[in-house]
Amino acid sequence: MVSQKDIDRRIQAYYGRSGWNEAARLTGRSAQGSLEFERTQELIAERIRLGSRIADVGGATGIHAAALADAGHQVILLDPVIEQVEKARAYGTFDAVVGDARALPFEDNSIDVVLVLGPLYHLAKREERLKALHEAIRVLRSGGWVFAAAIPRLARLSAVSDGITLPTGWESLIEQGTPPESGRFPGGHFHTGAELALELTDAGLLQVEVVGVEGPAGLALEQLTEVDEDIRQAALTLARAVGGQPVVQDLSNHLLGMGRRA
Ligand SMILES: C[S@@+](CC[C@H](N)C(=O)[O-])C[C@H]1O[C@@H](n2cnc3c(N)ncnc32)[C@H](O)[C@@H]1O
Repeated sequence: MVSQKDIDRRIQAYYGRSGWNEAARLTGRSAQGSLEFERTQELIAERIRLGSRIADVGGATGIHAAALADAGHQVILLDPVIEQVEKARAYGTFDAVVGDARALPFEDNSIDVVLVLGPLYHLAKREERLKALHEAIRVLRSGGWVFAAAIPRLARLSAVSDGITLPTGWESLIEQGTPPESGRFPGGHFHTGAELALELTDAGLLQVEVVGVEGPAGLALEQLTEVDEDIRQAALTLARAVGGQPVVQDLSNHLLGMGRRA
């Protein structure tokens, strides 16, 4: 297994020095991005109270944080990559700090909602992912929400734009969730929907639910830069209707696991 130290080092290069633009991924790189962004925001908004104190852990350059701050929440973003934190600070509507999901610099019982939309697929070992989830739970007030994103194994394989040959090691990807070594993305672990639900439950969360964020149309939209608004709306309607079905979870571009602190 690739060492976590090596993945953490590659994260700095991938998101920092390369000038990666997370906001561009969610708004323009493909029609999937805006579907992911809108559906993720919707799943959060449906569950949390107005004026929540939110920690956006792995928040990158702040696209989710900015939307939540605009909606009236008090947001603090945390990310290990200084270049991203500096870009996030430029919004001026929320705080942003450098840090790691496995050791949050927040007090116990001080936060209503923790977003973990990124760290889990960069953490190779289950114990490291549980450490990040335990930290999220520690800082939450009773009844608070965790929203945790994961990348489904099958979705990683279905990127037809990668080429006609399957990546070396694809069997380990499907059987154990180990990311193929080819490619620049510093992946640590890719989930199944059932595995994500179990991880959140084992971490101690209650009322755990997992959905496929983009639903059945997401993989098709990933191949297109733009689609008409009625097609995007149809994709959203499908995601809302059947995103919770196990087969749809595993064939969506992203999983979102949700659960509450006791
Ligand atoms: C693909 S981005 C997702 C960003 C954003 N949350 C979103 O949903 O669009 C993954 C983010 O997780 C961050 N990350 C990776 N490992 C982390 C860790 N151990 N603790 C906190 N953030 C981490 C990366 O720096 C990156 O900004």
